[in-house]
Amino acid sequence: MTSGAQKGVIFSGMRPTGKLHLGNYLGALQNWVALQQEYRCIYCAVDIHALTTFEGVADVAEIKPNINDMVLDWLAAGIDPEQSQVFVQSHVPEVMTLHTLLSMVTPLGWLLRVPTFKEKVRQMDETEESVNYGLVGYPVLQTADIILYKADTVPVGRDQVPHLELAREIVRRFNNHYGETFPEPQAILAEDPLVLGLDGQNKMSKSLDNHLELAASPEETAKRVATAFTDPQRLRRDDPGRPEVCNVYSLHKIFSPPGEMATVYDECTSATRGCVDCKRHLAANINSHLEPFRERRREYEARPSFVKEVLEDGAKKARVIAQQTIEEVYEKMGLA
Ligand code: TRP
Ligand code: SF4
Repeated sequence: MTSGAQKGVIFSGMRPTGKLHLGNYLGALQNWVALQQEYRCIYCAVDIHALTTFEGVADVAEIKPNINDMVLDWLAAGIDPEQSQVFVQSHVPEVMTLHTLLSMVTPLGWLLRVPTFKEKVRQMDETEESVNYGLVGYPVLQTADIILYKADTVPVGRDQVPHLELAREIVRRFNNHYGETFPEPQAILAEDPLVLGLDGQNKMSKSLDNHLELAASPEETAKRVATAFTDPQRLRRDDPGRPEVCNVYSLHKIFSPPGEMATVYDECTSATRGCVDCKRHLAANINSHLEPFRERRREYEARPSFVKEVLEDGAKKARVIAQQTIEEVYEKMGLA
């Protein structure tokens, strides 16, 4: 932890979508785990952000189990609650205070220009006039998340870069109006490998149901891998395949030892391996890779109040910092 003080404070959040998949792991979680070595890390399940796109009670009923499942995955993957702060956004209500205050220095035009906002409006089949006010302010809440803890470094995917740019602009404006208060948060992009789903076409995602859950059983994993699309031009077993266009091969590159990968390549291009066997081979390697994770997850799951305690403790610690920041902001804004 001594080096943590030098390197600064990391904040990142994930919306509570429930059990995580390989894409979440390779794109974000793996990096979150590694960053704990060098930084003081704060990781947050952003349930208020999730509400921006909810449509009613059915969605709401999923928040709690989804948080539990997601945090179990974080812990099983190696997020260490002794070392990092892990908590739920709504458990630290100070973030909503800061969100409101930041909204006083954020021009509406900045928010309407954010590409993710335009995209969401389109996806939801709404207009800029009809979407809820909370969705427009999504990046303001995200900024509040980060700067409430004066975090300076934010590991995110490429899609979040516009939000981080906006966060910096909001911070600059706040500091200009009210005096130097917050550091400008920097995004750090993980390697962010594009992990395609089982359809071989789209980014792996739960909503497209093309994903492989980290916590699935080995049997389920094998069954789902068996449905993966492969080289579309390989129609018969004795057609040579093209590993470079096959997502099963891309996954072999991640999960199979280099020696086996070379074999996959050779046997595929010489039509001495069939796709069914190739997928079985991949599933076995994914399963052995994930076995320690799954084992840990089962252990934590068997301790019914474990996640709850971690989150309570995390929120308690987070609130101490949050209240200090709010006090400072009140003072600077003349509200004290
Ligand atoms: N908007 C982020 C996403 O959808 C989640 C998020 C909320 C976040 N608050 C954050 C990420 C603060 C980093 C920092 O992925
Ligand atoms: Fe893909 Fe493997 Fe089939 Fe080749 S043998 S096309 S790499 S699944």
